[in-house]
Amino acid sequence: MASKIVSFKLNGREVEVMVKPLTTLQALLREQLGLTATKTGCKQGGCGSCTVLVNGEAMTSCLLPVENVAGQDVTTLEGLTPLEGLHPIQAAFLDKFAVQCGYCTSGMIVAAKALLDHNPHPSREEIVEALSGNICRCTGYEPIIQAVQAAADSMNGKGA
Ligand code: FES
Ligand code: FES
Repeated sequence: MASKIVSFKLNGREVEVMVKPLTTLQALLREQLGLTATKTGCKQGGCGSCTVLVNGEAMTSCLLPVENVAGQDVTTLEGLTPLEGLHPIQAAFLDKFAVQCGYCTSGMIVAAKALLDHNPHPSREEIVEALSGNICRCTGYEPIIQAVQAAADSMNGKGA
Protein backbone atom coordinates (compact mmCIF):
# COMPACT_ATOMS: atom_id res chain seq x y z
CA MET A 1 0.00 0.00 0.00
CA ALA A 2 1.11 3.50 -0.73
CA SER A 3 2.48 5.87 1.88
CA LYS A 4 0.23 8.71 2.88
CA ILE A 5 0.54 12.15 4.37
CA VAL A 6 -0.79 12.66 7.89
CA SER A 7 -1.11 16.02 9.63
CA PHE A 8 -1.42 16.54 13.37
CA LYS A 9 -0.20 18.77 16.17
CA LEU A 10 2.98 17.57 17.87
CA ASN A 11 4.30 19.34 20.96
CA GLY A 12 2.41 22.49 20.01
CA ARG A 13 3.41 22.60 16.34
CA GLU A 14 1.54 21.47 13.27
CA VAL A 15 3.43 18.67 11.53
CA GLU A 16 2.88 16.86 8.27
CA VAL A 17 4.52 13.47 7.82
CA MET A 18 4.69 10.82 5.13
CA VAL A 19 4.14 7.36 6.59
CA LYS A 20 3.62 3.82 5.37
CA PRO A 21 0.27 2.30 6.35
CA LEU A 22 0.11 1.08 9.96
CA THR A 23 3.33 2.87 10.97
CA THR A 24 3.00 3.30 14.71
CA LEU A 25 3.24 6.68 16.36
CA GLN A 26 6.12 5.30 18.44
CA ALA A 27 8.10 4.40 15.32
CA LEU A 28 7.37 7.75 13.71
CA LEU A 29 8.48 9.68 16.78
CA ARG A 30 11.69 7.77 17.32
CA GLU A 31 12.79 6.74 13.85
CA GLN A 32 11.51 9.50 11.57
CA LEU A 33 11.35 12.51 13.87
CA GLY A 34 14.21 11.75 16.27
CA LEU A 35 12.08 12.24 19.39
CA THR A 36 13.60 9.48 21.46
CA ALA A 37 12.17 10.35 24.87
CA THR A 38 9.32 8.01 23.94
CA LYS A 39 10.84 4.61 24.63
CA THR A 40 10.48 1.24 22.95
CA GLY A 41 9.77 -1.59 25.35
CA CYS A 42 7.36 -4.43 24.72
CA LYS A 43 5.71 -3.02 21.58
CA GLN A 44 2.57 -4.82 22.76
CA GLY A 45 0.86 -2.25 24.94
CA GLY A 46 1.99 -3.90 28.16
CA CYS A 47 4.82 -1.80 29.61
CA GLY A 48 3.86 1.86 29.20
CA SER A 49 7.37 3.00 28.25
CA CYS A 50 6.01 4.49 25.01
CA THR A 51 3.26 6.55 26.66
CA VAL A 52 2.37 9.88 25.04
CA LEU A 53 -0.55 12.26 25.45
CA VAL A 54 -3.20 12.36 22.75
CA ASN A 55 -5.62 15.21 23.40
CA GLY A 56 -4.42 15.10 27.01
CA GLU A 57 -5.06 11.38 27.50
CA ALA A 58 -2.21 8.94 28.18
CA MET A 59 -1.91 6.42 25.34
CA THR A 60 0.58 3.73 24.38
CA SER A 61 2.10 4.94 21.12
CA CYS A 62 3.33 1.46 20.15
CA LEU A 63 -0.25 0.41 19.40
CA LEU A 64 -1.34 3.61 17.73
CA PRO A 65 -1.19 3.91 13.94
CA VAL A 66 -0.13 7.39 12.90
CA GLU A 67 -3.28 7.66 10.76
CA ASN A 68 -5.31 7.57 13.98
CA VAL A 69 -3.79 10.81 15.28
CA ALA A 70 -4.60 12.81 12.15
CA GLY A 71 -5.90 16.17 13.32
CA GLN A 72 -5.21 15.32 16.98
CA ASP A 73 -2.98 16.96 19.57
CA VAL A 74 0.02 14.79 20.55
CA THR A 75 2.47 15.61 23.33
CA THR A 76 5.63 13.70 24.16
CA LEU A 77 8.00 14.14 27.07
CA GLU A 78 9.99 16.57 24.92
CA GLY A 79 6.88 18.71 24.70
CA LEU A 80 6.41 18.73 28.47
CA THR A 81 9.97 19.83 29.14
CA PRO A 82 10.46 23.59 29.41
CA LEU A 83 13.21 25.27 27.39
CA GLU A 84 15.04 25.88 30.65
CA GLY A 85 14.82 23.80 33.80
CA LEU A 86 12.45 20.94 34.41
CA HIS A 87 8.72 20.37 34.57
CA PRO A 88 7.64 19.99 38.24
CA ILE A 89 6.98 16.29 37.65
CA GLN A 90 10.50 15.82 36.27
CA ALA A 91 11.95 17.75 39.21
CA ALA A 92 9.99 15.60 41.67
CA PHE A 93 11.25 12.38 40.06
CA LEU A 94 14.81 13.59 40.53
CA ASP A 95 14.19 14.80 44.06
CA LYS A 96 12.55 11.55 45.19
CA PHE A 97 15.12 9.29 43.48
CA ALA A 98 12.35 7.86 41.32
CA VAL A 99 14.74 7.17 38.44
CA GLN A 100 17.24 4.33 38.24
CA CYS A 101 17.86 2.96 34.74
CA GLY A 102 15.36 5.52 33.46
CA TYR A 103 13.75 3.32 30.87
CA CYS A 104 10.27 3.66 32.33
CA THR A 105 10.67 7.28 33.34
CA SER A 106 9.39 9.04 30.22
CA GLY A 107 6.22 7.00 30.21
CA MET A 108 5.75 7.42 33.96
CA ILE A 109 6.08 11.20 33.76
CA VAL A 110 3.73 11.47 30.81
CA ALA A 111 1.17 9.24 32.55
CA ALA A 112 1.54 11.32 35.72
CA LYS A 113 0.97 14.51 33.69
CA ALA A 114 -2.30 13.11 32.36
CA LEU A 115 -3.35 12.20 35.89
CA LEU A 116 -2.50 15.57 37.43
CA ASP A 117 -4.15 17.50 34.60
CA HIS A 118 -7.39 15.63 35.26
CA ASN A 119 -7.03 15.28 39.01
CA PRO A 120 -4.72 17.82 40.69
CA HIS A 121 -5.22 16.25 44.14
CA PRO A 122 -4.93 12.49 43.57
CA SER A 123 -4.97 10.03 46.44
CA ARG A 124 -2.24 7.42 46.69
CA GLU A 125 -4.70 4.85 45.33
CA GLU A 126 -5.51 7.08 42.38
CA ILE A 127 -1.81 7.50 41.58
CA VAL A 128 -1.28 3.75 41.73
CA GLU A 129 -4.28 3.22 39.45
CA ALA A 130 -3.14 5.89 36.98
CA LEU A 131 0.33 4.33 36.72
CA SER A 132 -0.89 0.74 36.65
CA GLY A 133 -0.12 0.41 32.94
CA ASN A 134 3.49 1.52 33.42
CA ILE A 135 6.03 -1.08 34.47
CA CYS A 136 9.22 -0.26 36.35
CA ARG A 137 11.80 -2.99 36.89
CA CYS A 138 14.09 -0.96 39.14
CA THR A 139 12.51 1.27 41.76
CA GLY A 140 9.88 -0.86 43.45
CA TYR A 141 7.40 1.93 42.58
CA GLU A 142 7.40 3.62 46.00
CA PRO A 143 9.71 6.51 44.99
CA ILE A 144 7.63 7.02 41.85
CA ILE A 145 4.41 7.28 43.87
CA GLN A 146 6.10 9.71 46.24
CA ALA A 147 7.35 11.76 43.28
CA VAL A 148 3.87 12.09 41.83
CA GLN A 149 2.52 13.10 45.25
CA ALA A 150 5.31 15.69 45.56
CA ALA A 151 4.68 16.97 42.04
CA ALA A 152 0.99 17.39 42.85
CA ASP A 153 1.90 19.39 45.95
CA SER A 154 4.37 21.50 43.99
CA MET A 155 1.91 22.18 41.18
CA ASN A 156 -0.76 23.07 43.74
CA GLY A 157 1.57 25.62 45.31
CA LYS A 158 2.20 23.65 48.51
CA GLY A 159 5.88 23.11 47.85
CA ALA A 160 7.58 19.74 47.66
S1 FES B 1 6.41 -0.35 24.17
FE1 FES B 1 4.36 0.40 24.16
S2 FES B 1 3.45 -0.45 25.94
FE2 FES B 1 5.43 -1.33 25.86
S1 FES C 1 13.84 3.09 36.56
FE1 FES C 1 14.42 1.29 35.48
S2 FES C 1 12.56 0.52 34.68
FE2 FES C 1 11.96 2.14 36.00
